[in-house]
Amino acid sequence: MATLSSSPLLRFSTKTGCKPSASLQFLSPPSVSNPSLWLRTAQAPSPCSLTLAHRRMTVARRARHGGAYSAECFASNPAQLKSAREDIRELLRTQYCHPILVRLGWHDAGTYDKNIEDWPQRGGANGSLRFDVELKHAANAGLINALKLLQPIKDKYPGVTYADLFQLGSATAIEEAGGPKIPMKYGRVDVSGPELCPEEGKLPDAGPALPAEHLRDVFNRMGFDDKEIVALSGAHTLGRSRPERSGWGKPETKYTKDGPGAPGGQSWTVKWLKFDNSYFKDIKEKLDEDLLVLPTDAVLFEDPSFKVYAEKYAVDQEAFFKDYAEAHAKLSNVGAKFDPPEGFSIDSDAASATPEKFVASDYSSGESRRELSEAMKQKIRAEYEGFGGSPDKPLQSNYFLNIIIIVAVLALLTSLLGN
Ligand code: HEM
Repeated sequence: MATLSSSPLLRFSTKTGCKPSASLQFLSPPSVSNPSLWLRTAQAPSPCSLTLAHRRMTVARRARHGGAYSAECFASNPAQLKSAREDIRELLRTQYCHPILVRLGWHDAGTYDKNIEDWPQRGGANGSLRFDVELKHAANAGLINALKLLQPIKDKYPGVTYADLFQLGSATAIEEAGGPKIPMKYGRVDVSGPELCPEEGKLPDAGPALPAEHLRDVFNRMGFDDKEIVALSGAHTLGRSRPERSGWGKPETKYTKDGPGAPGGQSWTVKWLKFDNSYFKDIKEKLDEDLLVLPTDAVLFEDPSFKVYAEKYAVDQEAFFKDYAEAHAKLSNVGAKFDPPEGFSIDSDAASATPEKFVASDYSSGESRRELSEAMKQKIRAEYEGFGGSPDKPLQSNYFLNIIIIVAVLALLTSLLGN
């Protein structure tokens, strides 16, 4: 086993239960067979050399704090999060509250403004929606009911933050309704008081004068593009609109008059507790007066750019699920401050919670390591993907092949010189 001083590229991985422990894991150096990487390496400090500097400092800093990540230090306790997920599953089974939990998570995150650097002023998934002042925003009408459903779970698991609980509730609801697995991470820090709630008016209107422009204004501000706007809108495959809350929809329809859950409202789809691509099919066909189509739903099949995705999702549920899962995970992260900074997953083996892989996040260096903004992560992701890699995993390398190539080149040069 190499030591810290002898190993140039180290990755700190953690295994938590609640007991601190750490393991060091080797990362591969950048591929020498990729010419663009050679150039990058020659001209500028490579991602890996920055990573090295950062990792040495991080390791040193952790050493001063007992040598490892500790689950007790995370914003939320991983074991409690897992138990809370079981309780949420039970809640969904008995209350059929999938839609409102999804809307709660979305409205906590959807205040994010990527143009504001500081947390929590930038808004986003920070648990601020638990405070009355924000719950009373017109767009949040009815969400007090979602908070009431989750509050007993919060009380039972005080080691889980509201910000994490809201996003856990939403992702679990999508999955339990038959939707895709959302690649979630946790560790969101809560804002501390109501004075830190965002101002009203950050969430989209359902009936603006120019729906396409409005959707782009609001979602671009959060860092989402056209594809993500259309995919996220597909969440309306679940749930209902109630005139007494949002002013939209019928008081009841043949699909909602008997519940399940509290009866009434108008749904976008016939089976509004099942997550599938029927939202896109139904808007496209517009066959049933009892199904809701908001102006911001209709525009998905009118705007030429949105339409490409809406048409695709209407015929290809797999494509919808893939894009939805990615967009949902991104939405759940916007504006959030994570502790540990890279967040952690609760989907690994039963006993452990592992930090999310974002090797590129180690670009940030220095003793006072700052969390990367979503915008910066996107830039880094685009850079990596530009040369066929991913910030989520170490760059590929094949030492053996590289050695053979070097030996072959040397042999060729020797033979040329000999001649
Ligand atoms: C694109 C812009 C959006 C607009 C204009 C919009 C508007 C609305 C409106 C007016 C309602 C009815 C609320 C009520 O009367 O109770 C609603 C419900 C809902 N929204 Fe959206 N929404 C948008 C995007 C989203 C997104 C991005 C998600 C999730 C990713 C989402 C998830 C939901 C869900 C699940 C419900 C049903 C809630 C329930 O049945 O209690 N919406 N939305």
